[in-house]
Amino acid sequence: MLNDLLFVNAAQIVTCTGPARARKGKEMRDAGILTNTAVAVSSGRIAMIGAACDLLRAYPDAEVVDCHGGVLTPGLVDSHTHAVFGKPRFEEHELRAEGFDYMEIAKRGGGIHASVRDFRERSEEDLFKLALTRLKELASYGTTTLEIKSGYGLSVEDELKALRVIGRLAERQPMRIVPTWLGAHEIPHEYRTSEARRGEFIDLLIKTLLPKVVAQGIARFADVFCEPGVFTIDEARRILEASRQAGLGIKIHADELKPCGGAELAASLQAVSADHLAAISESGIAALASSNTVATLLPGTMLFLGKAKQAPARALIDAGAAVALASDFNPGTSPTVNFPLMLTLGVSQLRMSLAEVLIAATANGAAAVGIAGEVGQIAPGFAADLALFAITDARELPYWYGARLCVGSWKAGAPCHPYESGSNLNVRPPEAVPTG
Ligand code: NIG
Ligand code: FE
Repeated sequence: MLNDLLFVNAAQIVTCTGPARARKGKEMRDAGILTNTAVAVSSGRIAMIGAACDLLRAYPDAEVVDCHGGVLTPGLVDSHTHAVFGKPRFEEHELRAEGFDYMEIAKRGGGIHASVRDFRERSEEDLFKLALTRLKELASYGTTTLEIKSGYGLSVEDELKALRVIGRLAERQPMRIVPTWLGAHEIPHEYRTSEARRGEFIDLLIKTLLPKVVAQGIARFADVFCEPGVFTIDEARRILEASRQAGLGIKIHADELKPCGGAELAASLQAVSADHLAAISESGIAALASSNTVATLLPGTMLFLGKAKQAPARALIDAGAAVALASDFNPGTSPTVNFPLMLTLGVSQLRMSLAEVLIAATANGAAAVGIAGEVGQIAPGFAADLALFAITDARELPYWYGARLCVGSWKAGAPCHPYESGSNLNVRPPEAVPTG
């Protein structure tokens, strides 16, 4: 039985309250920031928001959590990661500095192929332990919900192995985990020898692997890396339509490096999200703006790949699309566990406002994994997924870039990242709990 909790003495509460769906365009302008407000949590859910004295009267037995003048937000929702992998790929970082680009490295057997070779050799237990350590790091920055994709197995057994590891992580550690099957992450070398072999791999995904994934109930979404040189639009459509028919939600890695109609495909299939989009076309922007598909932008990836171009967040939001931000945590293109850094890039490189990056990392992240009715806002009835930061003004979250400011987080009222001190750069000294 969970204790009732009372969060008091926050300088600001970032509520992100609003409709329980993706916020589109102008709806992203208000993050619902409150001052002089406390939050009561009962049975793992937000019960009441109001003056501390009223809440103390309503919940006299609640355990008081003193926020010490910090900022309380909905737990951050990182809706796009590849967090289950084996070895890091730091040698590629230098290769890119020497002028070899991402696709060229992949053609030479590096990139995703290198992670696949390594992943297949590792035991489930080994991969689980590696991921567990990395998830603790992710949680320490304020992430309470994490989408994790398979996609480094690319054989029937190894993809099921990846999804089992993700399932074990969901059971054993305190973050909320959303599993996505990304069997279509790359065409493995053994299927790249002819067009017929390529077709065999697509058939394997649709006819052999998909039914097993669905029967075992180990994924909520299916995803495809749709990009020239990887999966074509027609292949992506086939895989995603079959996945949807089999009962999975659908997501797409779309228009990351070159425009190829991925965003348009996502909108036409009513995918829950279209992700990356640094090379989205005008018609892709229009298609997403007139759909409910969330445009999930991954600015850390473009930064780390050394690309000058970022996704056109401003054009997407101004056209009326819903934008989410995510880390894309993976060993090749975004080896960072720091989700708040994506908010910094959101402001500095994508020209988003504070309210927009906050909504993008909470309510819209939740919508991008189909749980906008459960998490992403501090409002009565929502799960008590919360993050506390050692700052006095929400604008500091993107401002102190690279710092670990999270001092505690909760999932459904239970500790996720244990309440402890992180960086403490500009926080007021503790105050007495008002009881009047
Ligand atoms: O989202 N673009 C495809 N997939 C990942 C990269 C995976 C990797 O390089 O290992 C991404 O950036
Ligand atoms: Fe990705």
